[in-house]
Amino acid sequence: MRRKVTVVGGGFVGSTTAQRIHDAGLADVVLTDILEGVPAGKALDMAESGPILGSDAHAAGISTSAGDYKETANSDIIVITAGFPRKPGMSRDDLLKANYDVIKAVVEAVVKLSPNAVLIVVTNPLDAMAQAAFKVSGFPKSRVLGMAGVLDSARMSTFVADELKVSVENVHSFVLGGHGDDMVPLARYSTVAGIPIPELISQEKLEAIVARTRKGGAEIVNLLKTGSAYYAPSAAAVEMVEAILEDKKKILPCAVYLEGEYGIKGLFVGVPVKLGAKGAEQIIEIKLTPEEKAALDKSAASVRELVNVLGI
Ligand code: 2OP
Repeated sequence: MRRKVTVVGGGFVGSTTAQRIHDAGLADVVLTDILEGVPAGKALDMAESGPILGSDAHAAGISTSAGDYKETANSDIIVITAGFPRKPGMSRDDLLKANYDVIKAVVEAVVKLSPNAVLIVVTNPLDAMAQAAFKVSGFPKSRVLGMAGVLDSARMSTFVADELKVSVENVHSFVLGGHGDDMVPLARYSTVAGIPIPELISQEKLEAIVARTRKGGAEIVNLLKTGSAYYAPSAAAVEMVEAILEDKKKILPCAVYLEGEYGIKGLFVGVPVKLGAKGAEQIIEIKLTPEEKAALDKSAASVRELVNVLGI
């Protein structure tokens, strides 16, 4: 039986995520949106690309304007992208309360119909929204993940590959912490063909790469003017979806609920996680220098502030 992935939110991130899953034939896809017609139209358009691309995956699109999520029942994975995007000058945190209401309503609706699904939250502010989904769903912590580290690491890898003029396939970047301006790109654990990048890139250039990575989302918002990034965010979400569907045991940086790991308790923060069929199957703890730990604590404190505002 083919697996089923629901993508909640038919905006650019959601529809591109659904398209990537459909086109790769990873699973049948249900795309939902509160708009009428749009999710059905996008799904039909996707399905009609199947004969050209050789994908037999089904694509369905439903409007949830009347609160009906029936079509999403028994999903293996639910990717939540619904919410308001950032506009120029807005921080991810400005979105906090508006998107909390969206996440709460969506999660309440979908978990009843797919009680065994893994939830992947993409909506910003990411770590706080993942925590909201965790609390509202009542799911075990292994089945609620936030997508951010894969995206932030991909941005860093892009800049590193560009700087060194090497294949992106040679670069493995490592970004910890919350998906905010104080995320923690760890140069020491980032490598090119196994060589730590501080051996290859000057300190000054590394600092510029770290700064650009931290502001990677805003750089795109400022260019697009009317929305935020979606190609790399959707690719990142799909890498997580694939790791889970295919039980790959792939270690990826994801936001997960920490209960003492890295000295952080009761909070979603991005750390390396082993992803398999059960979701987050293991949190990988690595040694941090006092400076790196201080940076991670600072990033976690920013997430904690948001979570405290929401009282979750
Ligand atoms: C990004 O980093 C919008 O958070 C999203 O592009």
